[in-house]
Amino acid sequence: MATAWLYGLLSLLAVAAAAAAAADGAEGKWEPLIRMPTEKGGDAAASAAAAGEDEVGTRWAVLIAGSSGYGNYRHQADVCHAYQILRKGGVKDENIVVFMYDDIANNSLNPRPGVIINHPKGEDVYKGVPKDYTGHQVTTENFFAVLLGNKSAVTGGSKKVIDSKPNDHIFIYYSDHGGPGVLGMPNMPFLYAGDFIKVLKQKHASNSYSKMVIYVEACESGSIFEGLLPEDLNIYVTTASNAVENSWGTYCPGMEPSPPPEYITCLGDLYSVSWMEDSQTHNLKKETIKDQYEVVKARTSNTNNRKEGSHVMEYGDKTFKDEKLFLYQGFDPANVNIANTLLWAGPKARVNQRDADLLFMWKRYEQLNGGSEEKLSALEEIKETVKHRKHLDSSIDFIGRLIFGFESGPSVLEAVRSSGQPLVDDWDCLKSMVRIFESHCGSLTQYGMKHMRAFANICNIGVSEDTMMEASISACSNYNPERWSTMTQGHSA
Ligand SMILES: *[C@@H]1O[C@H](CO)[C@@H](O)[C@H](O)[C@H]1NC(C)=O
Ligand SMILES: *[C@@H]1O[C@H](CO)[C@@H](O)[C@H](O)[C@H]1NC(C)=O
Repeated sequence: MATAWLYGLLSLLAVAAAAAAAADGAEGKWEPLIRMPTEKGGDAAASAAAAGEDEVGTRWAVLIAGSSGYGNYRHQADVCHAYQILRKGGVKDENIVVFMYDDIANNSLNPRPGVIINHPKGEDVYKGVPKDYTGHQVTTENFFAVLLGNKSAVTGGSKKVIDSKPNDHIFIYYSDHGGPGVLGMPNMPFLYAGDFIKVLKQKHASNSYSKMVIYVEACESGSIFEGLLPEDLNIYVTTASNAVENSWGTYCPGMEPSPPPEYITCLGDLYSVSWMEDSQTHNLKKETIKDQYEVVKARTSNTNNRKEGSHVMEYGDKTFKDEKLFLYQGFDPANVNIANTLLWAGPKARVNQRDADLLFMWKRYEQLNGGSEEKLSALEEIKETVKHRKHLDSSIDFIGRLIFGFESGPSVLEAVRSSGQPLVDDWDCLKSMVRIFESHCGSLTQYGMKHMRAFANICNIGVSEDTMMEASISACSNYNPERWSTMTQGHSA
């Protein structure tokens, strides 16, 4: 009996070791996480010392979930998970600033009250997360003030800010919906790339950090930095997608791997869980920034089906990619000799960020009892949401045709500038055009962010505000967007 058990364990380890060796050369494969104790890892402290990586300065982090609502469970789950990794890595609470709406753990739809998970078999990631900025405090303005270390510019919240010094390292991680040139926030307005880059330049000018690493999960997240982020700010960025494609939710209901059956919402996002599951299972005193970029890139692009995956991109200063990750994410001694179980070996099913919301609404509808008030109102909610999405798509298309002509309208609005060029030259113009549109046609919502390129192109061509106003009135004069009006939703610019 005992012998059989031992034999079984030994052959398991042998298989794992062989798989690890095979995976080293095989690109795109999820690296097995079971390792022989003697294999990699080892005396990390000694090698770190030899490599001159003694602790210098302080590690700081800003973690931001840009959404609210149970249908967006995954973004706050991602951010809570990131917090746990940093915390286990020894980054101090006083140096981690968390932005999350905090409406998930106690949500009436949450099957495990008070618990948030980020993996089908994952443990609670909510416990202990600092509530620095929650609810209405999760704003672009507060994020910028926090990053700049300007306490007096912060409204509400814990007032914790990044009070960093010249030797310090800063890690920023953001997860949410996005669109060309914008990142979502649960409170209006959105975060515009032009403003973000300005703030990063200001932070650099204040000489208050050594290096900064930024990870961004959102649709079209590459457009936040493409042609915009200078290479001389000591800032290295990776994004979940390039400037023109979706990013993807994962661990979604009905997909493999799927969340426990009682969940009707996606638990994570593909790029996000890729970096976090990698960090959790590697010795971060040995793994470099570059190593992680390669792993995440391979896992996020679906090599089997390019349509369902995205291109992880890098921007900014690429000269310090050989630095070890522990400088940003800390170091968990438990990961020196990795013996973690395999989290998930197979390919991941995923759903694009914008459809994940609808998937949630449908799952909720299906779950409710036939004939109930709730079920009817859930159906009404789906119908209204889909209707507003169609309205946004068609009115923007209509505006394009009015301004640029019936035939060329669509292609002008969709035109993508050559790579290395920013989305738009005049960010104030972009915001004005968005405001004009929203005043007449209703709120863009997180779905409508995808049309940001159309507004950018209208600006790049030099269309006047008056022309835009006339076209918006023509397109939307019959629309009565009470529910979606900017009076209730606020302006996104
Ligand atoms: C969630 O519920 C618990 C227990 O009632 C409470 O202590 C906690 O403050 C609530 N959290 C939020 C964000 O409402
Ligand atoms: C901090 O913010 C306040 C209020 O917005 C502003 O007046 C002040 O100039 C800022 N301080 C610095 C150092 O930027």
